[in-house]
Amino acid sequence: MTPRHFLQFRDFTREEHEHLFARTRWIKDRFKRYERYWPLEDRTLAMIFEKPSTRTRMSFEAGMHQLGGAAIYLYTRDSQLGRGEPVEDAAQVISRMCDVIMVRTFEQDIIDRFAGSSRVPVINGLTNEYHPCQILADVYTYQEHRGPIRGRTVAWIGDSNNVCNTWLQAAQLFDFKLNISTPPGYEVESERLNSNCESFRDPMTAARGADLVTTDVWTSMGFEAENEERRRDFQDWQVDADMMRAAKKEALFMHCLPAHRGEEVAAEVIDGPQSVVWDEAENRLHTQKALLEFLVLGKLSG
Ligand code: CP
Ligand code: NVA
Repeated sequence: MTPRHFLQFRDFTREEHEHLFARTRWIKDRFKRYERYWPLEDRTLAMIFEKPSTRTRMSFEAGMHQLGGAAIYLYTRDSQLGRGEPVEDAAQVISRMCDVIMVRTFEQDIIDRFAGSSRVPVINGLTNEYHPCQILADVYTYQEHRGPIRGRTVAWIGDSNNVCNTWLQAAQLFDFKLNISTPPGYEVESERLNSNCESFRDPMTAARGADLVTTDVWTSMGFEAENEERRRDFQDWQVDADMMRAAKKEALFMHCLPAHRGEEVAAEVIDGPQSVVWDEAENRLHTQKALLEFLVLGKLSG
């Protein structure tokens, strides 16, 4: 049987995402009460990283342990992948030795090929194109603070990167509005746009009336050569206090982290009262535990 994978946000239906959120609530609640929950005892997660990470590694590794299982960390540099072993061969071998695999890599095509040769579910832990685990945590965090995201307005300010592309899929799936403002030359690729999003030249206009304002680094991993140029081009796309004032009074601020204060976000915003970035980061743990449970054991209730 072909395994289910989570390579893009839209790989799951809205009902499946709602199921993950319900399980997240349940798993998080038990965890906060120090109640043992070991549905993945004797199961193993392999984590393959081709780029650095703090949150993704911590949350998957800690999450797998907390579910009773084990996690193995592989970095390109010290595995045969770094010496040119075909991803299809690596997937064949690794997937015979574990129950689920998380991959952080460069092009989406790499993880698609890996998943095509894997016997077990593969999770996208970030590619150049998508970061579905991040938006799983972000939507959950929004709903935890403010209730259903359906019909709300999210403002994306900055680069049209992997996180932005994933918000686009989430907007369509959950039926909320996504206002996007990127500097000229950094617009979203037209085939990614959908009827739930609107593009704005002026970031202040994009933020106006939003329920959630969110951004990310100006230079994503793998694009470091463009750093200086991007610093110049993105100057006017900083989320600052003025921009937060344009949003609704009760608007939240999110950032997937790591953040650069004084670049994409002002310190007074990320460290201010509307910011929920620490809850957002913590929820990576809880949402991904629900994701691991679902991919390895299917739909549980309890
Ligand atoms: N947000 C996120 O994925 O962080 P890491 O790069 O630290 O994993
Ligand atoms: N867009 C960023 C996200 C980091 C978690 C990157 O890809 O580097």
